[in-house]
This record gives sequence, structure tokens and C-alpha cells, in this order.
Amino acid sequence: MVLVDHLTPPISHMPKPGELIAVDQLYLNIGGGAANTSMALGRLGVPVSVSARIGDDAFGRFIVESLQSGGVGTDDIKIDPERETSQTLIVNVQDEDRRFIHTLGANRGYVPADMDAALAVPPKVLHIGYFLILPQLDGEGLAKRFAKVQQAGGHTILDVVTPGPGDYIEPLRKVLPYTDVFVPNTDEAALILGEHDPIRQARAFRDMGARRVVVTMGDRGLVSLSNDNEVRMGSFPVTFVDGTGGGDAFNAGYIVGLLEGKSELDCLTLASAVGASCVRQVGATPGVFRRHEADEFLARHSLPIDSLAVS
Ligand SMILES: Nc1ncnc2c1ncn2[C@@H]1O[C@H](COP(=O)(O)OP(=O)(O)OP(=O)(O)O)[C@@H](O)[C@H]1O
Ligand SMILES: [Mg+2]
Repeated sequence: MVLVDHLTPPISHMPKPGELIAVDQLYLNIGGGAANTSMALGRLGVPVSVSARIGDDAFGRFIVESLQSGGVGTDDIKIDPERETSQTLIVNVQDEDRRFIHTLGANRGYVPADMDAALAVPPKVLHIGYFLILPQLDGEGLAKRFAKVQQAGGHTILDVVTPGPGDYIEPLRKVLPYTDVFVPNTDEAALILGEHDPIRQARAFRDMGARRVVVTMGDRGLVSLSNDNEVRMGSFPVTFVDGTGGGDAFNAGYIVGLLEGKSELDCLTLASAVGASCVRQVGATPGVFRRHEADEFLARHSLPIDSLAVS
């Protein structure tokens, strides 16, 4: 999923009817899991390409240009002549949580077959960043593509976005048996399962077939379960500025670990460092480590890993 974000800097209050609030600058950024994770991979030096849908409009062209300038391939981005490019309006008011107004736009038409050209030569990693929010990306269709990548020796990694309560279990039951790494955050997991404990959340997703489950919790770190490891990790201490894209950057770090054949625990450590790097600056991309910065950071910082008591 790719989109554009229209952002305000923090304003003093929500404008009243008819009121105009002047700001120094309004921002236009690209966003969406596919855009954020691929831009982060580009910064980490990994060849990457995005499959998504945009409209035939200026915002769509802005997305393509921005991805290309980040070194991301765009051959598999389709133009939907019927729909506009997806957009989110983000209003920041001082001392208040951000307000979002969103249109799914061209992403509404994204179907599993959209990725087939990109999978003709199966990639080493297939990452889906926005499962459960795209109405036509169905469990069965995605499971088939994941199976194809695994059969060719590649890795599959799955993240979700849950737009409020819904029946998410059925599509997940279809895809998780073909998922190498499942990376929901704990709030998404709670919405899906009605269960708030991250360890029990991870167990439930393992029972549904995922090989490794990583439940992330922002600055509280993560819980990760697999056949080989059951661990809890904290997060790297960084100066927090903006949380946008932290999870997407984490996924990029994990993918680098998979590509380099790192151990599961080293994948988690690298992912945590890249996730932490993202939240140091405004926006999903500018703070993300380059590869050498991640290595330098990890040479200077370490993160304790605690084994979970196995019950
Ligand atoms: N404030 C932070 N400080 C340090 N590390 C962080 C922070 N926020 C996120 N991270 C790192 O990134 C990982 C993923 O973050 P998080 O759980 O916020 O993902 P998310 O909720 O999916 O984020 P997103 O809003 O991008 O989807 C965390 O487990 C942690 O390692
Ligand atoms: Mg996320």
C-alpha cells in the first residue's frame, strides 16, 4: 500500500468554523507500509521494488518519483484510471494525539494477482505491509503467492493494519501457515484476538501456523516466539521525536537480517536498532540508519534479551 500524507506542523488549536490558521509550512510525504519499508530498505542498501496501485494524478506521480529517488523499483506499480491516489490528512494539534482523515483510493482495487509479474522470478523476500486493510487482498490469494516464494527458497514476512474491530481470524488462518515472520504490534494483535497479553498473542498466532511471531510494543520493545526461541527484548534508548514508520523500519531491519542469513536473535536486534533510528526524526524515512550507521550503532549499544519462562 502506498499513499501520500498531507501533514500540518503542530497548531495551537483546531480551527473553528470559518477560522484560518496560518502555518510556516504544510508537508507532503509519501506513506504506507510498502513505501516506508522499501524506502528504509533502499537506505540500508538492499535492492527492492514495490507492488501497489496509484491513481493517474499528481500525487501518484509524486509517489513514483519519491520512491525512485530513494532507489526503489516502481515497475510493478499499477495506475488505476478509475480511482485517485490514496491520501491521508494528518492534523497535529499541540499536546493532543494526531487526527487522521484517510481515503483508501486506488489501494481499494489492489488484488493478489497484481504481484504476479514481480513474482515471476521469485524474490528472496516477499513482505506484505498492510494485510487486513486492503479489501481485495484476500487470504487465499496471498497464501498462494507466499507458498510460491517459500517453495523457491525465499522468506515471507507479514504485517497488518486493523481498521477497527472485524473478523480478521479467517484470512489470517489461511496465510499464517505460509508466513515465516509475522510482525503485528500488540494493539493490532489485541483487536484480532481479543487477547491483551503479548505472550499469549504470539502463542495464538504460532498456533495458527506462523513460524516466527514478533509482537512489537513501541518503546516497550517486543516479544518473539518460534520453535527455537521464546524471548522478550526491550528497545534501544533514543531521543523520540515522531513514531511514524517505526514498525515499517523495524520490518526493513528484519529483512536485512534474513537476507544476510543472520540468527533469529540477531535479526531482532538489527530490526530493533533500525526501528529505533526511525523515530529520532519527523517522518518515516529521514531518520532511518544507512547500513554502516546501523553497524556502528550496534557496535556501541546492546540490548538485553530475556528468555521467557516456557509454560
Ligand atoms: N520510541 C521508540 N524507541 C525505541 N525503539 C522504538 C520506539 N518505537 C519503536 N521502536 C522499535 O521499533 C519496533 C516497532 O515499533 P512499534 O511497535 O511502534 O511498531 P508499529 O506500532 O507497527 O509502528 P507503525 O506505527 O510504524 O506501524 C519496536 O519493537 C522497537 O524495537
Ligand atoms: Mg505496524
